[in-house]
Amino acid sequence: MTAPPSAPPSVPLARALSVERCEGGASLPPTDLAQLCEATNAAILDGGGFGWVAPQSRATLERHFRGVLLVPDRELFLARLDGEVVGAAQLVRPPRNNEAQAFAAALTHAFIAPYARGFGLARLLVRRAEERAAAQGIRVLNLDVRATQATAIALFEGLGYVRWGTHPAYARVGGQTVAGLFYYRLIEHPGGRSTGDALGALGGGPA
Ligand SMILES: CC(C)(COP(=O)(O)OP(=O)(O)OC[C@H]1O[C@@H](n2cnc3c(N)ncnc32)[C@H](O)[C@@H]1OP(=O)(O)O)[C@@H](O)C(=O)NCCC(=O)NCCS
Repeated sequence: MTAPPSAPPSVPLARALSVERCEGGASLPPTDLAQLCEATNAAILDGGGFGWVAPQSRATLERHFRGVLLVPDRELFLARLDGEVVGAAQLVRPPRNNEAQAFAAALTHAFIAPYARGFGLARLLVRRAEERAAAQGIRVLNLDVRATQATAIALFEGLGYVRWGTHPAYARVGGQTVAGLFYYRLIEHPGGRSTGDALGALGGGPA
């Protein structure tokens, strides 16, 4: 008697994670733009965290992302899972007239669609934005998040972001006023002068 064939061992499929920076002024391929809009609305429906509280029309989202690519001080990063666009983040540098804060940038509008969470894509997205910031001479990255976004708070604190303040009237969502948490992280430049040296003593002001 021959033994019945045994089921092949189940091997978890490796997922392909990637993050890319969009070239400013370039247009997104239609498939990428469609996937980005779908991911955005899925994240908004799940609780958002980046401005919109209600899902938007495709036309509105397309206009938004086309506009982002036209703003000189703003860069869009796309996160992909198995090649599909499932999230994004924006890196915003101060305008040129703001020389006093030219060393700092903001990370905004970071999200991963609910169907692509838990694979490490957000961590990769933030790290790629930090690398880009470092390459542009940025020494400090700032960000803020609603106090209700527990996952994002765990993400950013796990990545070394330092909470420096709470804004009690940060956002209005569902008829409620929600607090906001403000963070910064010092960015090192591999092979360059340390950020501690470049910035000197922090917190200078009137005694
Ligand atoms: C926050 C968000 C971007 C995380 O995306 P993600 O791709 O699932 O995150 P990752 O898989 O890269 O996880 C990175 C870290 O986030 C935290 N995290 C992720 N999922 C979590 C969960 N369900 N519970 C608690 N912490 C979690 C952990 O610290 C995790 O690190 P670990 O794996 O070492 O524990 C995603 O949940 C999201 O888009 N949320 C809504 C929008 C938002 O809040 N944006 C940020 C403010 S603009």
